[in-house]
Amino acid sequence: MFTSASVFFQWSSSRHAEQEIGCYECHQAAEDSPDLFIHEGFNISIIVSPLDCARCHEAQVKDFDGSLHADAVNILELYPVANMIGNVIMGEPVARLSCTDCHGSTVQVIEGGRLDPTTWPNTGVGRLNPDGSRGACSACHQRHKFSIAQSRRPITCGRCHAGHDKPQIHIYEESKHGISFETSEGLMNLDARKWVVGENYFAAPTCVTCHLAAAPGLASTHNPANRLTWILRHEIAERRENWQSNKNQMTKVCTECHSSDFITSWYTNFDGLLDFYDRKFGQPAQRVMSKLRETGKLTTQEFDDKIEWSYFQMWNYEARTARNAVAMQSHEYVRSGFAAVTKYFYLEFLPEAKKLNKDAVTEVLTTPEHQWYAAGDLITGASPAESIPDLNQNGKVDSTDLLHFMQYWHR
Ligand code: HEC
Ligand code: HEC
Ligand code: HEC
Ligand code: HEC
Ligand code: HEC
Ligand code: HEC
Ligand code: HEC
Repeated sequence: MFTSASVFFQWSSSRHAEQEIGCYECHQAAEDSPDLFIHEGFNISIIVSPLDCARCHEAQVKDFDGSLHADAVNILELYPVANMIGNVIMGEPVARLSCTDCHGSTVQVIEGGRLDPTTWPNTGVGRLNPDGSRGACSACHQRHKFSIAQSRRPITCGRCHAGHDKPQIHIYEESKHGISFETSEGLMNLDARKWVVGENYFAAPTCVTCHLAAAPGLASTHNPANRLTWILRHEIAERRENWQSNKNQMTKVCTECHSSDFITSWYTNFDGLLDFYDRKFGQPAQRVMSKLRETGKLTTQEFDDKIEWSYFQMWNYEARTARNAVAMQSHEYVRSGFAAVTKYFYLEFLPEAKKLNKDAVTEVLTTPEHQWYAAGDLITGASPAESIPDLNQNGKVDSTDLLHFMQYWHR
């Protein structure tokens, strides 16, 4: 195996070097390893899989293996539509260097124990390895330092938790928590072996503080699901199976820095906003979609009808942005997420649905939240400003202005 001096120096300042864990302790391969090759008389494989780390870090590997992270490749099987967007609509080479780089590849071995270049290099979080294990620990622990401080920094998670449909890092950076981290990083004790919030540091929570690390009475974990109340990424937010005990765990973290009244009130608002979205936008849109399907207005092929794209844009990008923004406190992303939800809902989704089946829309728009729009041009042909006098006090608002404004108000 060719290697450079830099690899050696990265390793030599690591905790592993301190503990005399050398190259061979990690890179050794069993006689029957599919990716084995002989290097200067030693059996070596390049991939150091979770099974290899497990020889010394059994607990972390077990936790990780039970997490959705470890399932990030397999889960795609449940979403043929997502696969189609990646592999067919965008194209396989794009999927390989985007979807696969975050979710993970299925590593294939070719002759001589070499790794197939269409499947590796790759450190996606749920990577399927030649030895049958799932995951790449270096998704978060960059080689060859494997520094604990590096894994605790928000930017480590931001490599994947970034962009329009999973904007956690952007939200965090704009939140008071992100500001506190940015301005107090030196007080965070990021290098400490024991890293318990409220005991070893106080200044700010990072992603890891809330989702993985220890709090008094709460152990550190490699499975973030343990503390989550909701599944925020679906069309409609869903409560998790063990949501109550998960919520108690997350609350333990928060109350190291906030009063319990503060956190109870905060959750009331968070839960309330999720409900509100579902009632006002999520469920009505879902009802319209199923009505269009039932009445044969959509083809069976997904994503070949314009309305499927408006609907997808609304929930997969904008509702997810809005929900995550409430969960992690960025007021601006709550605003821009909802601004875009309303734009797609009123200006694209409903007009398109109306063209396909007017009844489906009329039925949905009977609830009071939609009066301002339903009473307007969509149903009666009159403008909302004319039909709802409140909207047009002193002649200040007219419908054209309102709709025009909505078109441009999200980022
Ligand atoms: C704690 C375990 C560990 C130790 C110790 C270790 N490695 Fe690695 N090494 C890894 C992991 C993990 C990878 C990533 C392979 C993958 O999953 O794609 C890797 C990858 C590599 C690669 C291929 C990737 C590249 O960037 O070119 C080389 C070469 C390498 N290691 C050399 C070394 C050498 C030389 C040493 C000793 C100085 C060493 N390793 C020590 C875990 C280790
Ligand atoms: C042969 C045993 C061995 C193997 C294999 C091994 N480690 Fe370690 N690792 C250790 C020891 C020992 C420590 C130091 C523990 C301590 O300081 O308490 C350590 C520490 C660590 C730390 C903490 C580093 C720090 O800055 O405190 C991380 C992260 C880590 N290992 C990740 C890995 C990963 C990922 C793999 C597989 C790619 C791996 N280790 C493989 C023995 C091993
Ligand atoms: C930058 C990293 C990254 C890229 C690129 C990426 N994903 Fe993801 N994906 C994620 C993360 C992170 C999540 C979880 C987001 C959340 O829970 O908010 C996710 C979630 C998903 C889910 C939801 C799974 C579930 O359990 O509900 C699907 C499906 C998915 N991605 C498919 C894809 C496809 C297909 C592509 C390529 C077109 C892709 N992803 C590209 C990081 C990525
Ligand atoms: C999603 C990112 C992520 C992945 C993937 C990940 N780790 Fe970690 N790991 C962390 C973080 C963050 C910490 C620090 C936790 C803390 O401070 O409590 C950590 C800490 C550790 C430690 C130090 C001891 C401890 O538990 O605090 C070891 C050892 C370790 N990880 C091993 C692994 C192994 C082995 C894998 C692969 C199976 C792995 N990690 C995968 C993020 C990750
Ligand atoms: C290499 C990419 C990658 C990195 C780095 C990463 N994640 Fe993830 N994360 C994902 C993907 C992909 C998913 C969705 C997996 C799925 O649906 O199967 C996910 C899901 C999650 C979830 C939802 C879990 C659940 O059970 O619903 C949380 C929370 C999370 N990640 C937190 C973190 C934190 C905190 C870090 C940093 C310590 C981190 N992630 C680092 C890719 C990554
Ligand atoms: C102050 C604590 C805190 C910090 C800091 C934080 N989060 Fe969160 N995160 C939460 C809470 C609370 C939720 C909503 C959890 C719930 O009730 O389901 C959440 C939700 C999530 C989800 C969606 C999980 C789901 O239920 O679908 C992901 C993914 C995530 N966070 C990743 C991150 C990443 C990445 C960072 C850093 C860039 C981060 N979080 C920073 C507390 C935090
Ligand atoms: C390590 C300490 C720490 C933890 C843990 C923590 N926070 Fe914070 N939080 C802060 C700090 C510091 C601020 C900024 C206070 C300020 O600016 O006055 C803050 C601000 C906030 C704000 C904005 C308050 C305001 O007055 O503008 C909310 C909401 C919030 N946190 C909720 C949470 C929730 C929910 C959790 C748990 C999921 C949590 N925090 C966990 C330290 C923490």
